[in-house]
This record gives sequence, structure tokens and C-alpha cells, in this order.
Amino acid sequence: MRKKIALIGSGNVGQIVALRLAEMDLADIVLIGGIHMGRTAGRALDLAEAAPLEGYHKRIVGYTGEFAAIRDSDIVVISAGIPRRPGMSRDDLLGMNTSIVRMVSEKVAELAPNAIVIVVTNPLDAMCHVAYEATGFPRHRIIGMAGVLDSARFATFIGMELNVSVENVSACVLGGHGDSMVPLPRYTSVAGIPLTHLLHEEQIEALVRRTRTGGAEIVNLLKTGSAYFAPACAVKEMVEAIIKDKKKILPCSAYLEGEYGIHGVFVGVPVKLGEEGIEEILEIELSADEQGALLDSANSVKTLVDKIRKMAQGKETIVALGRKSKARQVHS
Ligand code: LAC
Repeated sequence: MRKKIALIGSGNVGQIVALRLAEMDLADIVLIGGIHMGRTAGRALDLAEAAPLEGYHKRIVGYTGEFAAIRDSDIVVISAGIPRRPGMSRDDLLGMNTSIVRMVSEKVAELAPNAIVIVVTNPLDAMCHVAYEATGFPRHRIIGMAGVLDSARFATFIGMELNVSVENVSACVLGGHGDSMVPLPRYTSVAGIPLTHLLHEEQIEALVRRTRTGGAEIVNLLKTGSAYFAPACAVKEMVEAIIKDKKKILPCSAYLEGEYGIHGVFVGVPVKLGEEGIEEILEIELSADEQGALLDSANSVKTLVDKIRKMAQGKETIVALGRKSKARQVHS
């Protein structure tokens, strides 16, 4: 059976994800765009016309706002929303992107009720929460893309600092996708050698700081939006792990129900990705400092989710986030 992947959001991230996935010929692709009438169909057709050159066989179509096209998708990637500009934090996007992600998620629940959802829209962990509440999907089918990107950034900076191949670097960044993210040098290695054996504490600290502000560094350079090449490649990595049932361990934003002592919040942790989505949440041993940093990060996410709840209460037309209780378990 052909698999189907819907990409909701046809901006820079959506387009590059479409290209990367098309090149892998993994599944049919439906690209859904918002307000820019006509452009999404053009982008998808343009991609389809590259097929004879690149040798891919799957169908690629694009629509503006016609959600019916996502029907029965196996995976849905949500990157719809506005990106930040210089001077903005990811959290400044909360108001606008909450309504977009909620509306899109309701469509996903209706039209692709068995899909695995990958959320990309910022502020990432809070948007995962919106998607979780609005779809009603079990927690193993709502996954946030952040840790893969943040770990790739950490690995890039380590490769630059040591002047070694990034292929040698295995980096680990947990926590929310914000200023309080938690790079873990103790769980980062270069050709199997712990990073802490290769660099001094101050050097590592500088790389950790650069990783934490990696998104803002790009925003300040681009001036007109946020990063998209590395975020799109991070999405591709996650989609590939799911479609190929790789059982690959990647840091992703997942809804925690007691893991790491955290309850009811999406935050980045190592998970096993396979055809069911999140097939396992790995609980690694953390030092008191690391655990404290993870809790702080989770609390920042919780503050945003509380703000969303307040916004929802303030608007009679918007249904409050708290859903009717339904038994949900992570698949394991
Ligand atoms: C970044 C944005 C996409 O980290 O969150 O670049």
C-alpha cells in the first residue's frame, strides 16, 4: 500500500520537507498551503515535474486550504503558522499560531484520524499541546520536532570547534525548544569519546550557549524569518524513522506522564520512533543539575500552556483546551 504524507504549511519548511521526502520516494505527498492562493499548487506541480530528473515515482499534489486532500494520511506534518523575526522570541508567536494549529489539528482529527502528527510550528512544545488537545490523539501519535534540530546544531558547533567530521558527533539536547533547552555534554560524544574528555568546561559552555540561541542566530542573520533548511532535514529524519519503522532513538518533544518526574507537559526527551510513532520514552539517568534544568524547561512550557488556557477562557467562541477525559497510553 502506498503511504501518504500530508504537509500542512507550504512555506520554506514545508517546501523543503516535500523536496527531501520526494527524493526519498517514500510516500505520496500532499502539500497544503494557507493564504497564498494558487502558490501551493504551483509549488507541488513544480516538484512533480522534477520527478523524471530525480527518479521518484510517488504523487505530489498541492492545494490552498483544501483540507479534504489530507484524508487518510499516515503522517501529517504541521508547519503552518508565522515564523519569528529579529527581536522576537518563539513564545511571542503564541497567540497567532495557537489558533492556526488548533484549526489545522481539528481538520486532521476529522480527516486523518489514524495519522501520526509531527508538529513544527513554534512555540514548539506548546503547539504540540494544542495539537494533542485538539486532535484527541493518543500521546504516541503527537510528536514535536525540536530536539533533532537542536542536537544537529550542537553537533555542528562541536564539529567546527574540534575541526572533525560532524559524522563523528553524536549530540544530545533535551528540554523545550526555547531558551531553556538542555544540551547534555555528558551524553554527547565524538567517535565514541565523551565530549567532556575532548574540550574544557568553558569551551563546552560556549557551545551550549550557542546551541541555545541557535535559532535566534539564524533569525538575526536572515532578518525576514527563521531557519528552514536544518528544521526541514530534522523533519525528514523523523518521517523516515517512522515510515521505515526504524526504531530510531531521537530527541523529540513528547507528552510526559510522570517520566523524568514531569506530568502533563510536552518536552524534549529521547524517544524511540517507529511505525507506531513514539514507541518508547527513554528515561536516562540525569545529574541533579541536568534534572533541575529539565524541570525548569518543562515549567517554561507549562507557563505557555497556561497562557493558552487563559486565552481560550477569554474567548467564548474558542473551546477551552481541557478535553473530555479519554484513556490514553503511550504505545509500548
Ligand atoms: C529554529 C526555529 C525554527 O530553532 O525554531 O530555528
